[in-house]
Order: sequence, then C-alpha cells, then structure tokens
Amino acid sequence: MTSNTGAAPGRFIGLPIDRVDGRLKVTGGACYAFEHANLARGTTPAYGVILGAGVPKGRIAALDTARAEAVPGVLKILTHRSMTSLPAFGAPVTPTVPEVFTRARPMLAGDEILYYDQPVALVIATTWEAARGAAALIDIRYTQVPGFFDPLAANAERYKPGRINAGFPTDTLHGDPDAALASAPVTIDQTYRLPYEIHAPMEPHATLAQWDGDRLTLHTSTQTIANIQSGVAATLAIPRENVRVISPYIGGGFGSKLIPHADAILAAIAARDLQRPVKIAFTRQQMFANAGHRPATEQRIRLAADGEGKLTALVHDVIAATARFEEFAEQSAVVSRSFYGSATRRTTHRLVRVDTNRGEWMRAPGEASGLLALECAMDEMAEKLKLDPIEFRVRNEPDRDPETGAPFSSRNLIACMREGARRFGWTQRSATPGTRREGRKLIGIGMAGAMRPNYIGPAQARVAIDKSGKVTVQTDMTDIGTGTYTILAQIAAERLGLPLQAITVELGDSSLPRSPGSGGSWGAASSGTAVHNACLALCQKIAEAAVAHDASPLRGTNAAQAKFEQASVTFGDRSAPLAELIARISPDGFEATGSAARGETYRTFSQHAYGAHFAEVAVDIDTGEIRLRRMLGVFTTGKILNPKTARSQLIGGMIWGIGSALTEAAMLDPRYGHFVNHDLAEYQVPVHADIADIDAVFIDEDDDKGNPLGIKGIGELGNCGANAAVVNAVYNACGVRVRDLPVTLDKVLAGMA
Ligand code: MOS
Repeated sequence: MTSNTGAAPGRFIGLPIDRVDGRLKVTGGACYAFEHANLARGTTPAYGVILGAGVPKGRIAALDTARAEAVPGVLKILTHRSMTSLPAFGAPVTPTVPEVFTRARPMLAGDEILYYDQPVALVIATTWEAARGAAALIDIRYTQVPGFFDPLAANAERYKPGRINAGFPTDTLHGDPDAALASAPVTIDQTYRLPYEIHAPMEPHATLAQWDGDRLTLHTSTQTIANIQSGVAATLAIPRENVRVISPYIGGGFGSKLIPHADAILAAIAARDLQRPVKIAFTRQQMFANAGHRPATEQRIRLAADGEGKLTALVHDVIAATARFEEFAEQSAVVSRSFYGSATRRTTHRLVRVDTNRGEWMRAPGEASGLLALECAMDEMAEKLKLDPIEFRVRNEPDRDPETGAPFSSRNLIACMREGARRFGWTQRSATPGTRREGRKLIGIGMAGAMRPNYIGPAQARVAIDKSGKVTVQTDMTDIGTGTYTILAQIAAERLGLPLQAITVELGDSSLPRSPGSGGSWGAASSGTAVHNACLALCQKIAEAAVAHDASPLRGTNAAQAKFEQASVTFGDRSAPLAELIARISPDGFEATGSAARGETYRTFSQHAYGAHFAEVAVDIDTGEIRLRRMLGVFTTGKILNPKTARSQLIGGMIWGIGSALTEAAMLDPRYGHFVNHDLAEYQVPVHADIADIDAVFIDEDDDKGNPLGIKGIGELGNCGANAAVVNAVYNACGVRVRDLPVTLDKVLAGMA
C-alpha cells in the first residue's frame, strides 16, 4: 500500500494514509508517561518502587522498614501503617454500570492480603535503583491462610452473577434445548478450556504524578482519560476537576488500561506526601498480578442438528474464575446468542471465586473466549454431519438476530466465508484429517467465523480554524497505537476540504472535550462522529459569516449552498480561498464543537461487525511441533476510514488469536496463587518468526445504523474466532482435537501416538 499523505485536499476517508504520528513514534519524539520530562520548575522526580505481597492470602504479621529507610537516597516508605486514609473500596459488583471504572481503589489500605503480589509497600527514592534496592530490604512476614485457586476444580463452588460484563443478562433460554438434544439424530457435547491470558502491552503501566497546590497532574498510560480522572479523584477523595490526566501516546492497552492501577494511585499519593513529582512504573513481572488478565474459563457446548444440518439446539455454559473481592464476569456465551440460528438455545455463566487479583476486560472480552468454544464445536459438528464447515454455517445463517429478533443493521458473514474460501484455496482442504502430508509434516486448513458488537459512546470534540487555514482538532480520546490521530485528521481534512497537513489533532488530555476513550472498539465511531459533527458545525458557522459579513467576497450568497473543497469555500459559481476568507471576516478564526450519541437505531438493530478466519498449519509427525504457515481474515466492518491502520488492527488481533491458540497461558501455581511464568520469556506471545504469512482484507460494506460515518469497530474483531481457526486447522492437519488450550506439541503428540 502506498501513502497518500500528499493527495489532493479533501479526499482522505478510505485512503491508506500513513500514521500522522509515525515520525514522532519512530524518532522517539512521542513521549510515554514515564519518559515525560516537562516537570514543574525547580523540581526533579523521585522514583517509586512497589513491593508486592509474597503470599496470596492472609495478613501482614510483621513489618520492619528500618533497613530500607537507611538506604541512601530513600525519601519515604509508604505502608499500610503510614498510608493516608482512603475511602473504602466498596461492595463488589459485576460491571453493569460505569462505577466499576471509576470507583475508589484504595491501596496499602490495611494488613489484609487478597492476592499474590498485591502492593504492600511503596519505596520512594531519588533514584529508581535506590528505591528498588531498599524495597528488597523491607522485612515483612505474613500470617497465611489457605487460598482457593482452581476455578475448574470439581469441588469449586459456582455461583450465578447478577449480570455479566457490558450489562448482558447472565443466562438466556429459548425453547426446550434439552428435549431437542434428546431427540436429535446428531449431537455433540464438548468442553473447551482457556487458561488465564495476559494483555502484555509493550508499555507497562506507568505514571508521573505532580501537584500544584491542591491540583494533581498525572502523566499516565491509559486508554480512557475520564475513567482515570474519576477513579483517582474518588480514591483520593478530591474533586474530579482537581485531577488533570495527560496521556497523548500509549504503548498498547488491550483493555488493561481502562481503570486506574497501583502506579497511578500510589504515585499521586506519594507525590502529595513528598511535595515532589513521583514516577512509578510496573515491572513486567508486576503486570501479571497487578494489571488484569482474561479469566480462565471452561465452556461446555452442546449442539443438536436435524438431518439437514440445521441446528435444533445450541447450549453454551460457561464457568469462569473471578476475584473474590471484585467480581468480573466475562460474557463468553453472549456470542452464542447472536451468531447462528437454532430452534432452541440456552446460555449460562457461572463464576468461581478465587484468591487472585481481578480479571479485567481483555481485547474482545467474551467473544475471544466464547468463539473459541463455539467455533471449534461448529467444526466438530460439521464433521459429524459430514458437511463442509462453511456449508454447515451457511445452513444456520439467521435472517434476524436469533436472540432479540431485531433486524441486522448489516450482516455479511457468509460473504466473508465465501470470499475467504476463494482467496485462501479452501478446496485444498482434505475433509479427512491427517491425510495431507508433505515429507514429515501433516498439513491442515481450518476456518472460523468472527463477530463483535458495534458500539458507540457519548463523545465530544472541538474543531478550530485560524486565519491561515490551520485546524486544531481536540478531544480527550486516546491513541493506544490504533491510529486515532490519523483517522481523526482524515475526517477533519475531508469534511473541511483541506490538506491533511493543515490538521493538527490533540488527544489524551482531560482538559479537552470528553470522549469514551479507547475501549470496546468504539473509539473511531464515537470520537470520529464527534469530529465529523464538529466540522459540519464549523462549516456552517463559516458559511453563515461569509454570507453576512460586509468584508466577505461571498456576501449575499446562500449559506446552505456552501461547499468546502480544495481549500476554498464555493457558493455556486463564486468561490474564495478558505484562509483568505477567514482572514477577512474573522481574524480570530472560528471554532465549533460536535458530539456523538447513541441514536434511535442503536438498539432497534442488531449491530455487529463480522469476519472469517482461515489458517493453514503444518504439524511435525515426529515431534508434534506446530507451525502456522498462512492465515487470512476477511472482514466486513462498515466503511473503512483507513485501510492501512484498519488492516494493522485486524492482523494484530489475528496474531492475538494465534497466541491464544498455540502459546499463551499464564500458569497459576495452585499452592501460592502466583502466575509462575510472569515474564515475556515464559509467557509466550507470538513473535515475528511465528507469523509467516498473514493478511486481512475487507469486503465493502456501508451501514448507516450506527453512526454517520458508516463505520464499525475494528480493534477487537481480528481476535474474535482467530484462535478457533488455528485449532481447527491443527485438527484438520493431524486428527488431534485439543480442547484444552493452548494447543502445545505435548498435547498433539499424545493424541497422535
Ligand atoms: Mo477493550 S478489552 O474494551 O480495551
């Protein structure tokens, strides 16, 4: 793909524009929170290092900081004894309401240990090394009590949460699936397990906090400015307006940066205590216990079909881990409510309390885990029915949302499957597993469907233009690596008829108009719509002034006919360069705001983005080693603002799926409740060498039900179902069906023997 940064003014939406922040990123000019150096005059930062609990459950029995305090450079040690009193954490609730994002999250609040590596002390010193050395000298002992760590244990006590994540109902029932299962000619009943998974953004959670009187400024790494502002204010019991959050550049989030964590809260408190800026970053190891995870799940799928391969029952039962002290219920079975037609259907979610830190939202929460189970089960069922996996899905394609009966805003799932089959060479697939061989390798192809809800949240943006035609776009939206700066610049340039270089986008600052931030793949739709509307409002203001102003060359024309193109304003056959016009009629320029909100059609239509993944793997006959050889995703996700950034999002998501399928598992030690492989050497995410040949393509789609731009969310769609496609390919290659992820060679080898 080529860059069109220099294209004619006004034609930018839909072009593969290079990232406008690309140069800053690769030259080191885009500062992350920990690198931020622009401190208040005369101040130098102190460094905080967090000491984590060495037991998962119990109490601090003895604590002696004397040796640590004696280390040169140590300024202060915060423990539950010296900590400012903070508001209580509050009762645990499933996140149905935004409060979960903004509730007080007290730290070092008492002697009770709720999870392994929970912060028990903060050492602040003039250097990071001194703080780290001193933290190791804190003498701390615990009274340990037994914890419970195995959510899938036979004796685990399951309970039904009141709601599940994103406010979905916990269970649903349509018809009598048990009767359908009992009477159907073909059924399957299989259970799939996904381990704990970790977000592993490249940039760890980090914060620089500084105070000016009673005003706090946090440079922090966050997806959602507003959540951090409110969450930190609630924890410190100070007015929200007194907290400014700045986060212009972020090295990935994936859901782990939606709520404040210990780095932000402890940095804020330490900086206030010391009257000096304080920096805290999690170590990579600390991120495993302190920055969220995808909870381990066990999912049982039961399917029944008639002789024609039409589903007569679909039952999806989920058991998942939740922290004992704060509930999080990933909505894994929700995909099974909308993906396929079935005469009867039941979905349930049950939780098991474990003594770990809380689960958090992780890229495609619900869909990434749920589709693993559903799409593997569909593959297994197709084989049992002697149907091609795509043909089986075609036969169960619904014409309305199976759960709600709502019409689809647009649904091109089958088109994705057909196009993917054509491009990938689906006909090369042998219907009989283990029969395609190249030397010592068995070759297999698998596919799976993708689906993700299309969301939009309330957002605001401000757009200003000066007399030289320079435009500033402002919103507190973040760019977590997704391309927000670029797409917002494209939208503004297109709407205002200006070159891309005329647009400056300012993001990630709580002093800017509020947005819902980056999460739920709603970022582009929400902030993009706000910018689009702000630009329309700006054009109208300029047009009205141009018509009315004495000094305007366009005086007396009809404002409604104004066109903003080619850096000019045109009314019929009269035209004026935009900058010249503004210089004449309003030397201070113009400014307008715009907003986005959920419209009428938001809930009257079933709105999702769709796709289909295709994977080819080679499995070594002797060692069971699995190599992904090719992977293709075909997606329909509304209009594409920028095919380059969109494709990057999608292949990034697909690579997440490959990791989930083949390598990723955070291993919780059942004795100590500790993620044993808590670094990137042992928690293995795919690296370049693992990804041979990958592509993502789009099928054109326009959907006017979600937002005026006709776009749908992309960030999470790529890892919906991607893991299932790889698992299905492994089965097709070697005939071994692994349902306990990740699919590692030991499990494959055992099956092949
Ligand atoms: Mo996403 S898991 O809402 O960042």
